[in-house]
Amino acid sequence: MKVFVAGCGTMGSGIAQVFASFGHETIMFDREADLVDRGYALIEKQVRRQLDKGRLTQEEAEALLANLKRSTDLDEAKGADLVIEAIFEDLETKRDLFGKLDKLCHPDCLFATNTSSLSISKIAQGQDHESRLAGMHFFNPAPVMKLVEVIRGAKTSDTAIDRIADVVRAIGKEPVLCQESPGFIVNRLLIPMINEAVDLLARGVASRDDIDQAMRLGANHPMGPLQLADFIGIDIVRNIMEIIQEGTKDPKYQPSPLLDRMVKDGKLGRKSGEGFYKY
Ligand code: CAA
Repeated sequence: MKVFVAGCGTMGSGIAQVFASFGHETIMFDREADLVDRGYALIEKQVRRQLDKGRLTQEEAEALLANLKRSTDLDEAKGADLVIEAIFEDLETKRDLFGKLDKLCHPDCLFATNTSSLSISKIAQGQDHESRLAGMHFFNPAPVMKLVEVIRGAKTSDTAIDRIADVVRAIGKEPVLCQESPGFIVNRLLIPMINEAVDLLARGVASRDDIDQAMRLGANHPMGPLQLADFIGIDIVRNIMEIIQEGTKDPKYQPSPLLDRMVKDGKLGRKSGEGFYKY
């Protein structure tokens, strides 16, 4: 397949790495060359790690990197069999991008958005390819996590859902199907759980380390919820809580005031050097 991945942040580059590792010609697109290069450097670093650990041979590593093409030209999406959008979470920006891609891509091309909680129907509304657009939600780190949520918008066809689920299996992952609903499955469960952990910390019920230790040892989670919040990004956690709250109109999804304060203070987790932990 020829796969066009729009957005070269953590998720976009992880997704591009997965497709390239399965032998697909993969275009990494972003609006500026340094964003594309930064995403490519993340992949190079991961590939080097796998090489050092003996998980990849030199030939496999070279083949993976050779399958990646870097671009700031949207026209490269011409001839793509699958477009995956992984840009930042803004409805209008996503709609604008899909509107442009609509005119460039061939009539059989599949369109997927990696949105973590926005409405697939709203992203697709009014586009010619509405029936061929679905959610394809990967989890961080994309090369490691086995799950992809496949989300149906109001007009997504059965054929598109089946084809996307087949693509997911063909890249060694497991699809779960979901109707669109705020946060889909994983984030609807995971992010409020993290918000509760933040609330416990803010109320002084337990320390940061004890909250994380409790969930690592008491629920077998690989990371404690506060560690995971730092990994995901404090701003993203808060944003997903807001989207779930707006979508459900249920006050129980109110983001913890501690999350608001941390975002205001620029404590965004790993990416900013400090969140609940220092990096
Ligand atoms: N990219 C590629 N591979 C990576 C990686 C990355 N960023 N980070 C780790 N890995 C690989 C390592 O290379 C290693 O691979 P090998 O076994 O082949 O050597 C493997 O993952 C394990 O890594 P480590 O030994 O370094 O560390 P670990 O055992 O602590 O695992 C982890 C790290 C996989 C991140 C694990 O802690 C974990 O599963 N954490 C929970 C992650 C999670 O819940 N993700 C979902 C977040 S929510 C989300 O993404 C949705 C959203 O919309 C917000």
